[in-house]
Amino acid sequence: MPLTKKDFLSIADFTADELNEIINLAIKQKADLNKGPLEPVFRGKTLGCIFHKPSLRTRVSFEVAMHQLGGSSMFITEKEIGIGSREAPQDVGRVLSRYLAAVMIRTFDHSIAETLAKHATIPVINGLTDLLHPCQIMADLMTVQEHRGNLDNLTVAFIGDGNNVARSWINAAGRLGFRVVLGCPAGYGVEREFIDRALAGSSGRYEEINDPAAAVKEADVLYTDVWASMGQEDEAAKRRQAFSAFQLNPELVGQAPKGAYIMHCLPAHRGEEITDDVIESENSIVFDEAENRLHAQRALLTLLVQGGGAH
Ligand code: CP
Ligand code: NVA
Repeated sequence: MPLTKKDFLSIADFTADELNEIINLAIKQKADLNKGPLEPVFRGKTLGCIFHKPSLRTRVSFEVAMHQLGGSSMFITEKEIGIGSREAPQDVGRVLSRYLAAVMIRTFDHSIAETLAKHATIPVINGLTDLLHPCQIMADLMTVQEHRGNLDNLTVAFIGDGNNVARSWINAAGRLGFRVVLGCPAGYGVEREFIDRALAGSSGRYEEINDPAAAVKEADVLYTDVWASMGQEDEAAKRRQAFSAFQLNPELVGQAPKGAYIMHCLPAHRGEEITDDVIESENSIVFDEAENRLHAQRALLTLLVQGGGAH
């Protein structure tokens, strides 16, 4: 079934069934790839990828995903097109819709992605904003599902900043009904209003715990991310100090249930938020998680573009 929304801006916009459909298709296509090339259903179709911030995984995985489905992709720098400076967002959205099958955007202010989506007639995919990183969490959910077998009674301990990745985990908890514990220093949590909206009417749960050892106590997954996100480089030194007790190191991992999976969206600052021995440990599924960006996004593209009447 095609997804009911034109755009993929936030996990909160989708039902549990839709999210599971993306994950299940991702797992199926991943298995199909072992048997041979996928159907070139996107022959003649192009994905535009607008980047206002750097990327390794998001850029390469989206480009490879389009290629594997018989289509192509185009890297577009925000500097070049100047959404809102060189050209009004509504004009950019309408013009791109005349050429492309879909557009992925990585930018700072979430409202830029929303405005583009509002004016484009093609699917707009959020490839990371200051607010959210939904594609990352789709790959993460797929990875947990593969390793653990299901997402039932899941507790994810996110040790670090209440950032775009943490918020998307909370949105997923709200839709799929699991528990997120954010272990962070006081003042670095997720906004109350965001949490209330994400969890409204759901069995999903969220707790902020300012003691790292207490935060990992019941974790099935120990997740971390950089302490200073892209755009927060000026705060890096201050944040290094504030977060120093929240490093995912063997001592902290030792406080968590044995067998808890180690996850990181990458890029990692080894020696800051996570140590080498933890990222390389037996329970680390960090590189499966990185690989699954490709599979989850290919499935997402298949479902969004297939039903969208795109060129
Ligand atoms: N995790 C992630 O989005 O990686 P990139 O910033 O390299 O795309
Ligand atoms: N929180 C990080 C995620 C990078 C994939 C950032 O926004 O820089």
